[in-house]
Amino acid sequence: MFGPPGSGKGTQASRLASHFGWVHISTGDVFRRHIKQQTELGQKVQQYIEAGQLVPDTITVAMLQEEMQRHPGARGFILDGFPRTIAQAEALDDMLQANGMEVDGLIALDVPESELIERIQIRSQTSGRADDADPKVIQERLKVYHTQTAPVYEYYDRRGKALTIDGTGTIEQITQRLVETIESLVNTA
Ligand code: AP5
Ligand code: MG
Repeated sequence: MFGPPGSGKGTQASRLASHFGWVHISTGDVFRRHIKQQTELGQKVQQYIEAGQLVPDTITVAMLQEEMQRHPGARGFILDGFPRTIAQAEALDDMLQANGMEVDGLIALDVPESELIERIQIRSQTSGRADDADPKVIQERLKVYHTQTAPVYEYYDRRGKALTIDGTGTIEQITQRLVETIESLVNTA
């Protein structure tokens, strides 16, 4: 699940994971859990997340690999917020290939920037997320998305695996669009 901050990756990935019986991994959620529990990893990543910067690739890839390995019997995975750089996309391909798997597709949620900012500002009232509370950090997250993450879309597009979905409307409408798209793309039986 791909898209800028606030586009609904987490909301939709969670609903799709329930619908299809897949394991949902949000790298942002995992990092925030580590920060809350003050683990060694949490201490390493906190400064990046609070500044709206990406966590270095080596740390992120190792963490993702560990999370996936925790679900050896999974029927499928829905990754939310990963990969976010070309290096992460390449590492994911290598990791999956070594296990006889591959990425089925990348789906980007398209939402106008004004709505992204509005959604994040509303969420900031209850999320407790340091990166939601400061408008400068929200701007930084959007900038990082455009410069470092947007190229990942092209990476999958060149392989015929990228799609964009209208990410506006009600949460239910968007889920419906996603379910129809996924069913036309992958064997979900
Ligand atoms: P991450 O946690 O992934 O944050 P993000 O990409 O900035 O995206 P958000 O979680 O803010 O938004 P979302 O797209 O999930 O939308 P949501 O469903 O919540 O990453 C945080 C940080 O971790 C990064 O900045 C980086 O530091 C680090 N990190 C994570 N992954 C990394 C990686 N791979 N490499 C390096 N660093 C990494 O929806 C947003 C809000 O809108 C919610 O309140 C929701 O209820 C609401 N909403 C959703 N849909 C709708 C709708 N249709 N209508 C109205 N409101 C809606
Ligand atoms: Mg999220």
